[in-house]
Amino acid sequence: MSTPQIFVSLQKVGRKFKPSAAFERLANLADPMAYDQLYAESVNAPEKFWGRQAKEHLVWRKPFKQVLEWKPPHVQWFLGGKLNVSENCLDRHLGTARENKAAIIFEGEPGDVRTITYKQLHFHVCRLAHILENTGIKSGDRIAIYLPMIPEAVIAMLACARVGAVHTVIFGGFSAEAIKDRINDCQAKLVITADGGWRRGKVIELKANVDRAVEGTPTVQTVLVVKRCGNEVRMVEGRDVWWKEAWEGAPNRHDAKAFDAEHPLFILYTSGSTGKPKGVLHTSAGYLLGAKLSAHYIFDLKETDRYFCSADIGWITGHSYVVYGLLSNGSTVFLYEGAPNQPEPDRFWSMIDRHGLTILYTAPTAIRAFMRWGDNYVLRHRLDSLRLLGSVGEPINPEAWMWYHTMIGKKKCPIVDTWWQTETGSIMISPLPGITPTKPGSATLPFFGILPKVVDEKGEEVPRNSGGKLAIMQPWPSMLRTLWGDDDRFKQAYFSEFPGKPGVYFTGDGARQDEDGYFWIVGRIDDVLNVSGHRIGTAEIESALVSHAAVAEAAAVGRPDELKGQSLVVFVTLKSTHTASDELKEALRAHVGKEIGSLAKPDTIRFAAGLPKTRSGKIMRRLLKELATSGEIKGDTTTLEDFSVISALKSDEE
Ligand code: WTA
Repeated sequence: MSTPQIFVSLQKVGRKFKPSAAFERLANLADPMAYDQLYAESVNAPEKFWGRQAKEHLVWRKPFKQVLEWKPPHVQWFLGGKLNVSENCLDRHLGTARENKAAIIFEGEPGDVRTITYKQLHFHVCRLAHILENTGIKSGDRIAIYLPMIPEAVIAMLACARVGAVHTVIFGGFSAEAIKDRINDCQAKLVITADGGWRRGKVIELKANVDRAVEGTPTVQTVLVVKRCGNEVRMVEGRDVWWKEAWEGAPNRHDAKAFDAEHPLFILYTSGSTGKPKGVLHTSAGYLLGAKLSAHYIFDLKETDRYFCSADIGWITGHSYVVYGLLSNGSTVFLYEGAPNQPEPDRFWSMIDRHGLTILYTAPTAIRAFMRWGDNYVLRHRLDSLRLLGSVGEPINPEAWMWYHTMIGKKKCPIVDTWWQTETGSIMISPLPGITPTKPGSATLPFFGILPKVVDEKGEEVPRNSGGKLAIMQPWPSMLRTLWGDDDRFKQAYFSEFPGKPGVYFTGDGARQDEDGYFWIVGRIDDVLNVSGHRIGTAEIESALVSHAAVAEAAAVGRPDELKGQSLVVFVTLKSTHTASDELKEALRAHVGKEIGSLAKPDTIRFAAGLPKTRSGKIMRRLLKELATSGEIKGDTTTLEDFSVISALKSDEE
């Protein structure tokens, strides 16, 4: 992989924003000296630091004997320790002042509201744990969850954790094909879904997608169905069970077993640079500790907070910062089911005012959409309950940062721009809101225990203010343990980038550190795109396209997009039996929607007579990207096999 050209376009922004005195006074950590000491200890004596945090923050059934075993690239944390993750999120709060505190405040898209206290959530999870066990689920079995953003999604995840089953949550925007592939990859025995979910006033038919998927998944024995929308569904005798019916007879107490610290907690599929999604595996104690500690410090959680994260539970952000990191801290989490512009583009602001929400964690692509919809939608609301704002998923452009700061935060809320990945499990680089002066567009400094560096091809640190690859130099508790069923790919993708440095984790991102040591993330430098904050592998799109009867070859590239960060442009060559047409374009978009899901539908399809290739036959995506972005190709074409392809491409209409 060559050093990418994007490093040239690094912005320098001089503005710095200090935490306000009012915020600092109440912050969980506000003393810079204490912070420096703690950070130094966390990276210089990680076992001491993490050992202490694990004892303080987690509830153990059996204490661990050893903090860390690092045999690169494999790591184990808290060896010999036993705990139950769901107990750490629920039971620990019972019998305390939190017992009757809201764990979840839910608002459905149609406007229905439910509040679930910690005690009630515990009942729900216990009941579902019994249901799972009664259907034959054993510790280590995999369960797929395909649900809308409703409380049952949280309940399902925690119930899996309670019985030691490994959940894999599949985002509701994925198609039947994508569900099938994921279920087959992890051999799930049970699927938890709903009849449907509300999105922009319409019902998304989730159960129908599951029905199609499980036709091709021999391992699935049971499908548990939540009634959400009341749309008609087909229930298959002997396989499909209504959640409510199973729920009624189940006891609301459940003795949770203790599991090893390294017991698998979940698999989450994410895009990589080859066609097949990667099943990122996270385990119990280390993951939970990372999520809990980072949430505590970075969101500066207080007993009285009402926290709103707009990410879907199908993404890692939903796992770590809706469910595990927040409930383990005993926080009140606000869940919203639907679209941000339903019925009007002020839905978030209206919910913040109506529910008195104090923290908002959302994505730059959403912030840019709000900007575009206009300030008037914001100005209708007071937003004075907010005290902290967060951003995640892609670099936030300084304009969007400033708008977020001024319009939403009213210049008084610190913004935490948090950099992390599905693989890292928890936030890695972020301001601490009571400590770190922020610079719009920079994720600032590493969190405790994290040692990132910007390095060159050899893994050597580059001087300040020069671009390079973002690497993490030592292990941390919430890091992925492997890729499900594919340890070789795990080694290859994350620990093979720097020769002679088998313990250095490669993030796939490019970055720069400025004169203050602040990190500026540039974005992916591998074949992964970030469209509206969603990771999509170019190879996944390409393999979906070539599975269509008309397509001979396809290449997918990203083009900078004001709203989405990147938009998806594909170049397609057709088989001689087919001719280009607008209908075919539509058919190809629909085909990608069917193979992967609507989030992966290309924004632009260009038919081409041929694709630019190297002499060894590799598609030169770099040239296509240039063409898609600027309409021209100025880059190095010396390895190009056939020059006429380029001129033909340029003259092709979009
Ligand atoms: C990008 C989402 C810049 C980055 C938690 C990373 C970011 C990928 C930021 C992971 C940020 C995430 N600033 N870029 N604050 N947060 N990214 O696995 O390219 O869905 O590698 O995890 O998103 O995406 P994933």
